[in-house]
Amino acid sequence: MNQYQTVTDSDVILRDGTIKLHGPEGFEGMRRAGKLAAEILDALAPLVKPGVTTATLDDVVRQLTIEGGAVPATLGYRGYAHSSCISINHVVCHGIPSEKTLKDGDIVNIDVTPLLDGWHGDSSRMYLVGDVPLKARKLVDVTYECLMLGIAQAKPGNRIGDIGAAIQRHAESQRYGVVREFCGHGVGRLFHDAPEVVHAARAGTGPVLKPGMFFTIEPMINLGRPPVKLLEDGWTAVTRDRSLSAQFEHSIGITEDGCEIFTASPQGLHKPPY
Ligand code: MF3
Ligand code: CO
Ligand code: CO
Repeated sequence: MNQYQTVTDSDVILRDGTIKLHGPEGFEGMRRAGKLAAEILDALAPLVKPGVTTATLDDVVRQLTIEGGAVPATLGYRGYAHSSCISINHVVCHGIPSEKTLKDGDIVNIDVTPLLDGWHGDSSRMYLVGDVPLKARKLVDVTYECLMLGIAQAKPGNRIGDIGAAIQRHAESQRYGVVREFCGHGVGRLFHDAPEVVHAARAGTGPVLKPGMFFTIEPMINLGRPPVKLLEDGWTAVTRDRSLSAQFEHSIGITEDGCEIFTASPQGLHKPPY
């Protein structure tokens, strides 16, 4: 079976395990969806403050997504009923928006995926709530560096494992733990597609990167050990040792000579402080 499949706008796209290779119309679609995701994350920056509920932030995400002509891809996805995932402190990912309020010193990830004209712009950033201790701020900084070091490996001829190797090396140089249970993923017309983008890997392993591949890189890095556990709600993933966890996510496309970051902030709000 061919691992790769060149797709155009008129093709029906199936979750058949193949890695899709997109043309210019795919890049155009992802550029628009990714820009909207980034604009939503930009708009949240001034709203992430002590006392705000995560449900309020989720309402803002839904509103901005719809105003942008998109729908939140998470709404109704496998029974998920919200427009974003909001993960505080030791929550690794898939935190469910609720009436819980943010507190001074919290670190929080907000993950959004507007589905615009059939394309998924999947991105998340960390936000600092009030005064955050240095240890937590450093975790956030290093996690952002992990994402960007992974992206630096995203070019034709490299392999998927080169991305995870760069991320793991940097995280472990600080004695942080790289989460294994959740991965980056192919993205595009499908929310979650092949390939799996693991964030801890051996260099030179996995599928070869080719122009037209679209995928996310979304490392989750823990101040403590790597393992996570799932809470009773079936969604919320937390660190087993209750240590802090941070994550950033971009959707990217492999180009002839590197990659394009579809979800880069138009306002330059790449990482806190914003
Ligand atoms: N946006 C998440 C990701 O990066 C997926 C969230 S799925 C949900 O892949 F159902 F939990 F919202
Ligand atoms: Co993702
Ligand atoms: Co996401």
